[in-house]
Amino acid sequence: MTETVEIFEVGPRDGLQNEPRDIAVADKVALVDCLSRAGFRRIECASFVSPKWVPQMASSAEVLAGIRRERGVSYAALTPNMKGFEAAMAAKADEVAIFGSASEGFSRANINASIDESLNRFRPVAEAALARGVKVRGYVSCVVECPYYGKVAPDGVARVVAALRDMGCYEVSLGDTIGRGTPEAVEAMLAAVLDEVPAAQLAGHFHDTAGRALDNVEVSLVRGLRVFDAAVGGLGGCPYAPGAAGNVATEVLAARLADLGYDTGLDMGIVQEAAQMARAMRG
Ligand code: HMG
Ligand code: MG
Repeated sequence: MTETVEIFEVGPRDGLQNEPRDIAVADKVALVDCLSRAGFRRIECASFVSPKWVPQMASSAEVLAGIRRERGVSYAALTPNMKGFEAAMAAKADEVAIFGSASEGFSRANINASIDESLNRFRPVAEAALARGVKVRGYVSCVVECPYYGKVAPDGVARVVAALRDMGCYEVSLGDTIGRGTPEAVEAMLAAVLDEVPAAQLAGHFHDTAGRALDNVEVSLVRGLRVFDAAVGGLGGCPYAPGAAGNVATEVLAARLADLGYDTGLDMGIVQEAAQMARAMRG
């Protein structure tokens, strides 16, 4: 029987958050609606962060209000603190994500907190979500390298992953935020993380700056990971990771997974349509 790999679509959030021009809500809604028809089970389409920090995501509530919700699809939102969580609940996000970093430099630049301060900020978010029956995903950024502090130690990554697991995150996504990880570095990082958390609770989140994202997916597959984040059209980058390129493109990742014999359950014609729409949104 063919084995399944899930692509968690992050294009409407990670893909678009870095775009400098103001993208119309109707265009964002059309993109999410197209993705909803493609067969994704989870689509990250909102981010309740400070509009001063990430202006493109200021329309997140309008996007969630405008989309046509497909049965069985979870529409996810980033929530860095309680203010963001309450806004996500008001907008009826289906699940939320707290996002930390394995590097102090990126943590400070991205969310204005040290790693430990950020974990203390996330704890009440996770508690409130779980109390309402809302699933919480975790992200750890800079799992191999930081744009400010360079190489990141694998055991530091494992520590933050374990903290997010302890808060009740059902899955922790491992972010090569600047997309410069080599398969060797990703292997070493995974070895440390897998000592703490099983592969079934992990996802790979590879940006593709150095063109190694697919190789990094492959070493992760060998280690047992079966969920990967990707963005249609390969859009994106993080505003606080200078020079970082977009996520691995969903259509490219899905094709590679098919070549490797994995089933993603996606309708590739609709994925291509969404990729076209996403590319047209690029400034
Ligand atoms: P801060 O300035 O320390 O926050 O920012 P604060 O609590 O001191 O509040 C300052 C102001 O922000 C106040 O407004 C708050 O109301 C407002 P003012 O009184 O000045 O008018 N504020 C908010 N507004 C809306 N929603 C909120 C919120 N919280 C406070 N939730 C904060 C801390 C976390 C808010 C800020 O640093 C921030 O918004 N950072 C977000 C950065 C971001 O979104 N980065 C991109 C996503 S992460 C990523 O892309 C990586 C990932 O893809 C994985 C990977 O690739 O590695 C996930
Ligand atoms: Mg990212």
